[in-house]
Amino acid sequence: MSFKEEFGRDVNEGLSAVEKSLPSRYFYDKRGDALFVEIMNSKEYYLSRAEMEIWKEQSVDILNSIGINSEPVDIYELGAGDGTKTIELLKVLNGHNYHFRPIDISQNALDLLERKIKNVLPRVQMMGIKSEYFKALEQIHSKDKKIILFLGSNVGNLTPRQSEEFVGRLSRLMGPTDKLVIGFDLKKSSEIVLPAYNDSKGYTRDFNLNLLERINNELGGNFNLALFDHEPEYDEATGLAQSFLVSRADQDVRIKFLDKTFHFDQGERIHTEISRKFTLEEIQNVAARQNLRIVETFFDSNQFFTDIIFEKERP
Ligand code: AVJ
Repeated sequence: MSFKEEFGRDVNEGLSAVEKSLPSRYFYDKRGDALFVEIMNSKEYYLSRAEMEIWKEQSVDILNSIGINSEPVDIYELGAGDGTKTIELLKVLNGHNYHFRPIDISQNALDLLERKIKNVLPRVQMMGIKSEYFKALEQIHSKDKKIILFLGSNVGNLTPRQSEEFVGRLSRLMGPTDKLVIGFDLKKSSEIVLPAYNDSKGYTRDFNLNLLERINNELGGNFNLALFDHEPEYDEATGLAQSFLVSRADQDVRIKFLDKTFHFDQGERIHTEISRKFTLEEIQNVAARQNLRIVETFFDSNQFFTDIIFEKERP
């Protein structure tokens, strides 16, 4: 199935359901990647700053915890994006014998990352893999020691069930000396979380609306972007942040590629993303069920975010 057919199938499925939705992985085309960089630099989006603080100040400790000596290593990074944090790790690793295998849904992001790596770390051997998360698991099969990075709270985009299954599959791929590093956004007050998903410059709104723009450009849709609002939501108890697009009017939207018209009631919502926040207890429970042991936890000074090193539980 071509990318276009897959995109069309997913859009059709999501918009035909009683509760409409669109998969968040389609945010990331060239424009979406650029908007996400703006989001990361916005004053409200604390996640990247918090995690960057961890990598800037503790990358030597993180590396010690991962435990690398002279053996060759394969570093996989799921959802590498612009790789800002990983470059901090790669810098510390300089001189070691390793391959860097970033995995991302966006070819554009991989191309930009490759250029950046060539500039700042010209000796690094990088081989990008364009893939979504679950399909990418098939690509993680090297015989050398594996370090698997899943940073930036990308894991928060998965439902509780999906993330448990995903972590389980990662665990089953891991050998006794392999390490898994996951970045989790921690549960906190909605006064902090909600603005992060509704920045005052409107980058997050444009990011969300970019889904409709992509349908217009790639599937021949006729969405009027001015007739949809961006609406984030956060539930402190469950840690579930969600994003919606809300129809401002009763309207019909035609999508040529699907040869189909979709109706939207005024106030009807399209669910576009979940960004889950976690407690340490929840993380420990998933790890234990999936045969992983926490080696070490790293926090930023506000305790907003945590990067956790896991290894396989010894039998
Ligand atoms: C890249 C998935 C971590 O969920 O916080 C940012 C994406 N969405 N603003 C997140 C996002 C809206 C981001 N992740």
